[in-house]
Amino acid sequence: MSRLAGKSAMITGAARGIGRAFAERYVAEGAQVAIADIDLERASETARQIGDRAFAVHLDVTDQPSIEAAVKTVVERTGGIDILINNAALFDLAPIVEITRESFDRLFTINVAGTLFAMQAVARSMIARGKGGKIINMASQAGRRGEALVSVYCATKAAVISLTQSAGLDLIRHGINVNAIAPGVVDGEHWDGVDALFARHENLAPGEKKRMVGEAVPYGRMGIAEDLTGMAVFLATADADYIVAQTYNVDGGNWMS
Ligand SMILES: NC(=O)c1ccc[n+]([C@@H]2O[C@H](COP(=O)([O-])OP(=O)(O)OC[C@H]3O[C@@H](n4cnc5c(N)ncnc54)[C@H](O)[C@@H]3O)[C@@H](O)[C@H]2O)c1
Repeated sequence: MSRLAGKSAMITGAARGIGRAFAERYVAEGAQVAIADIDLERASETARQIGDRAFAVHLDVTDQPSIEAAVKTVVERTGGIDILINNAALFDLAPIVEITRESFDRLFTINVAGTLFAMQAVARSMIARGKGGKIINMASQAGRRGEALVSVYCATKAAVISLTQSAGLDLIRHGINVNAIAPGVVDGEHWDGVDALFARHENLAPGEKKRMVGEAVPYGRMGIAEDLTGMAVFLATADADYIVAQTYNVDGGNWMS
């Protein structure tokens, strides 16, 4: 387990959930990992639990000075960023006739602008360093098609897939591979919140939506964060050097494209 030995990674939104699992696996594979999250207290606790090669950095992906400061801190501390995972995101749900502009703006600012401008800041530092790099954006099966109650989140993840394509084509001339992972349904605190929102809007008992989506996965269950870590490692290694601008479904068979 040392496929990322000597590498430095910055993972946004890694204080919990999928980002945390990426951080744990990256450290196990020999990388140094910056857990960059808006919740600094939780990020610090996560870093402490993961061990010496993980450290916490405050980052609000909606705030340009915060992005610049976080990238500067990680570069100074590690000597340069080899891998960025754009993982921070927010979910919301409402029928079309109830969507608020506030919710729309918040989701697009975090999920789309946050991904773009974190990618931009890290790409600048990678280009200046001249050693290339790997950028992995977290998309979703939600970006592959619409969902009646999830239009804004779905649109943000479709935008992440599109940004991955454009940035992948633009940055490969600098030796920077940009690709994305599209998970399906992954159990954890995030889905606890999603389940509660569906319970309210679809008049379901708590836990019912989770049970339904889990049963519908061809693999036979909801995903867990660890199901995604193999792809996140692969895309960060030289084995993925010839992979450019792609989005990989890691979803137990939910979607084919
Ligand atoms: N869990 C799923 O079923 C699922 C499915 C498909 C895609 N995804 C995607 O995978 C990624 C991780 O999902 P998760 O389930 O671990 O989510 P999560 O909600 O558990 O974690 C999100 C993290 O992002 C952080 N964050 C929120 N706003 C931020 C900001 N402005 N700046 C920096 N950090 C911020 C939070 O503090 C949190 O630690 C997301 O991009 C999500 O859209 C998740």
